[in-house]
Amino acid sequence: MKHLLKLLDLSKEEIIEILNLADQLKYENKNGIEHKVLAGKTLGMIFQKSSTRTRVSFETGMYQLGGQALFLSNRDLQIGRGEPVQDTARVLSRYLDGIMIRTFEQKEVEDLAEYGSIPVINGLTDFCHPCQVLADLMTIREHKGRLDGLKLCYIGDGNNMANSLIVGGLKVGMTVAIACPDDYAPDSKVLEFAKEYGDKYIQTPDILAAAKDADVIYTDVWTSMGEEAETEKRKIAFAGYQVNDEVMAAAKPDAMVQHCLPAHREEEITAKVFEEHADEIFDEAENRLHAQKAVMVKVMK
Ligand code: CP
Ligand code: NVA
Repeated sequence: MKHLLKLLDLSKEEIIEILNLADQLKYENKNGIEHKVLAGKTLGMIFQKSSTRTRVSFETGMYQLGGQALFLSNRDLQIGRGEPVQDTARVLSRYLDGIMIRTFEQKEVEDLAEYGSIPVINGLTDFCHPCQVLADLMTIREHKGRLDGLKLCYIGDGNNMANSLIVGGLKVGMTVAIACPDDYAPDSKVLEFAKEYGDKYIQTPDILAAAKDADVIYTDVWTSMGEEAETEKRKIAFAGYQVNDEVMAAAKPDAMVQHCLPAHREEEITAKVFEEHADEIFDEAENRLHAQKAVMVKVMK
C-alpha cells in the first residue's frame, strides 16, 4: 500500500490488515509498550478545513511512533494563495516522509499523490473520509467481535461519510442500508461500486426500513464543512432523518450507535440516544488514533 486516497483503492485483505495492526498498536499503547517504528520521519498535515480529531490523533500518533508531525494550515501555506498542488507536492516530497491532507476536492488528494513521491493519506475530502471509516470498522469489530454478516444502517446525508461507509462496509462483508432523501444520494461512483454487491446494498428514504434489524446505526451532520450556506435548506430536507428511540427500536436490541463527530444534538441524533451510546461513540473517536497509526506504519515504514 503506497497511499490511502480512498477505500475504493483497497482490497478487503488490505483493510483487514490495517484493522489487525490497529488492534495490536492499541494493545501496545494501553500496555505501555513503545513502538517507535517511524523514528526520524516527518509527516506534513495540510488542513484546508477545521479539525479536532484528525489533527490531534495524527499528531499524537506520529509522536507515539517516534516521528514528528507538522501542522500546515492553508492560511499559512502558499497553496492558500494559489500555488499549484502539483508544485506543492514536488516541494514537500523533498522535505517530508508523508503527507496527510484534508481538503475539498478529491482530485487535489489524487494530484498530490501523482505529482509527489511520498505517501499521501486522505484526512477527509468532500468525496470520502477513509481514516474515519477504518476507525469505525475497528470499533464495530471490537464491540461485535466480527464484521462479516452484520447490518450497518446509515441515516442522513449521502455525503463523504456515507460514501466511505458503503465502500468499507460492503468490502468487509456487511450489508449496508442507507436512508437518505432522494436529492441527497451518495456519489454515483460509489453507487456503481455498490451494484456489484446486489441486495447487500439497500437505499431507501424510509429510515425505519433501513434501520430494521440493524447491528449498527450510524449518522452524520446534515450540513458538512463547506456547505454552510445551505444550512437552512438542509434543515428542511433532512427533517425526520434522525437517530432517535423509534429508530433504535427498529434495530436489533443490542444495536450500537456510531457518529464520526462533531454531533448536532436534536438534528441528526437525539441527545438521549447520543448519551445512551456515548461509550461506543467515544471509543470510535479514540480509535482514530490507533487506526491512523496503523495506516502511517503501512504507508511510511
Ligand atoms: N470525525 C472527524 O474527522 O473529526 P474532525 O473534523 O474533528 O477531525
Ligand atoms: N460530513 C462531515 C464529516 C466531518 C468529520 C463533514 O465533511 O463536515
